[in-house]
Amino acid sequence: MAREIIFATNNAHKLEEVSAILGDAFRLVTLRECGITEDIPEEQPTIEGNALQKARYVHERTGADCFADDTGLEVAALDGAPGVHSARYATADGHDSEANMKLLLKNMDGVSDRRARFRTVIALILDGSEYTFEGIVEGIVTEAPSGNGGFGYDPVFVPDGYSETFAEMSPECKNAISHRARAVRCFAEFMKGIR
Ligand code: IMP
Repeated sequence: MAREIIFATNNAHKLEEVSAILGDAFRLVTLRECGITEDIPEEQPTIEGNALQKARYVHERTGADCFADDTGLEVAALDGAPGVHSARYATADGHDSEANMKLLLKNMDGVSDRRARFRTVIALILDGSEYTFEGIVEGIVTEAPSGNGGFGYDPVFVPDGYSETFAEMSPECKNAISHRARAVRCFAEFMKGIR
């Protein structure tokens, strides 16, 4: 029988992506299924801190095995910004990708060092113990947005070794090399070892 684990996300796309990598040995339980309908707080100053805060929030309420993820775009010339503030970089209520990209490009106006990376941390609480897994993809921030695919900062990010932005790539290509896929694969390897 598949082992059940709660994924602390309301994002159906993420559920599908992680579920495909984990395979049949695990069944991902949604927040809705365990009765958590409120927004989970993300108030920590680091990506790791936020991933752990979300996992702990769910674990405290359910006592069950669970995991959460958090991601940020870290720009070298901006000392790692927007980083943990990536979703709410331009607006307090967050997730305005157009405004976020506009602000990022404004803050990088005239900056020649365009190096940046996406970093995802997955925090897992399993049998009461905490673990974290990281996935990074290095690249550069372009001078202007390009492409219609993906989400967030995808139109302004070109991963190293490629000439197109994440938003110009097929989802298959992005998902094969992305920060999130890399973190999920580390997590999946660990989970396969314990089942
Ligand atoms: P979350 O922790 O996955 O919700 O990500 C926080 C923010 O980082 C999102 O609101 C996006 O702005 C940005 N982000 C996360 N993953 C990606 C990605 O794969 N491409 C582009 N932007 C992303």
